[in-house]
Amino acid sequence: MKAIVRDRYGSADVLRCIEVPRPAVGPEQVLVRVHACSLNFGDRVALRGEPTFIRLFWGLRRPRVTILGRDVAGTVVEVGAKVTRWQPGDEVFGEMDQRGFAEYVAAPADHLARKPAGVGFEQAATLPVAATTALQALRLGGVTAGSRVLVNGASGGVGTFAVQLAVDLGAQVTGVCSTRNAELVRSLGADVVDYTREDFTRGDRSYDVVLDLAGGHRLAALRRVLAPGGVYLSSSGAGGRVLGPLPHLLKVTALGAVTRPRLRVVAARRDTADLDHLATLVAAGRITPVIERTRPLSEAADVFRALDTDHARGKIVLTVG
Ligand SMILES: NC(=O)c1ccc[n+]([C@@H]2O[C@H](COP(=O)([O-])OP(=O)(O)OC[C@H]3O[C@@H](n4cnc5c(N)ncnc54)[C@H](OP(=O)(O)O)[C@@H]3O)[C@@H](O)[C@H]2O)c1
Repeated sequence: MKAIVRDRYGSADVLRCIEVPRPAVGPEQVLVRVHACSLNFGDRVALRGEPTFIRLFWGLRRPRVTILGRDVAGTVVEVGAKVTRWQPGDEVFGEMDQRGFAEYVAAPADHLARKPAGVGFEQAATLPVAATTALQALRLGGVTAGSRVLVNGASGGVGTFAVQLAVDLGAQVTGVCSTRNAELVRSLGADVVDYTREDFTRGDRSYDVVLDLAGGHRLAALRRVLAPGGVYLSSSGAGGRVLGPLPHLLKVTALGAVTRPRLRVVAARRDTADLDHLATLVAAGRITPVIERTRPLSEAADVFRALDTDHARGKIVLTVG
């Protein structure tokens, strides 16, 4: 099968589209013929091995897993001996532990959700990491109808879902993005703060929930824009080359334990019930994945290369076969 393979950390230049053996299927796995996969911020982190502390987990000198890719949607073609839930022909999507940028992936059966007929493979492939993170973050923040929500980084993969999910809940949403994405974020139902012209932490508006997907602001400034009882949610965002956002996240965790207003770290977890819910929202037209680009798997390196110079806008999908 074809797969996007790298044998060292680096830029997009280390990626090759080559033939590799199909993965063997374990007793609790199914073999999925991948039709679409999507890129996440984390794939770029894994490609570069930066911030470098992540190499403690993913391989110190070189990556232990050579095929990147977490979000996949496809068709089950083979099931392991202990799998009763799936059968060949089932259309599924889910978050892998990597190895998704390939024609086939051996997926743990319990990582998968059923793709509704009304949701395309490309749409389904956008949901696992980004939409789940957005959904779980809004839940952590207790967002309900009427909540004033600010999403910093509203135009990216997670942000475009967070804006739509918060609007769907009846929240009043403000999205922070750059000028080129202002119209997109407005079209999703949010008021826009263009960060190239205005710093939202210096404005006079306050929010019940600040979901920070971009970083770059001091905690003291962020706390100033929280309404009484408000909550600041940090995903990860910016940081140095070695530790990345870790110092910020540790500070949020430590201060979050002892201070008011509340400060929380978003640590999204794989959850197939959430995937079912998200797919239902897509099928009903209540949210629509923002897909900036769709390219064949073989062009994965070019897509990663482009992201070195341009920020992502919504999701980028790779199609297979
Ligand atoms: N905690 C978790 O479980 C979890 C899971 C998934 C992702 N994340 C984190 O969530 C963050 C966002 O992920 P993503 O997949 O949405 O990334 P993404 O698709 O690359 O989007 C990032 C967005 O941030 C915007 N941006 C860049 N600089 C900004 C600034 N100074 N102010 C406001 N917006 C800015 C960019 O848009 P413009 O061009 O408009 O600037 C871009 O669209 C990442 O830090 C990622 O690590 C966490």
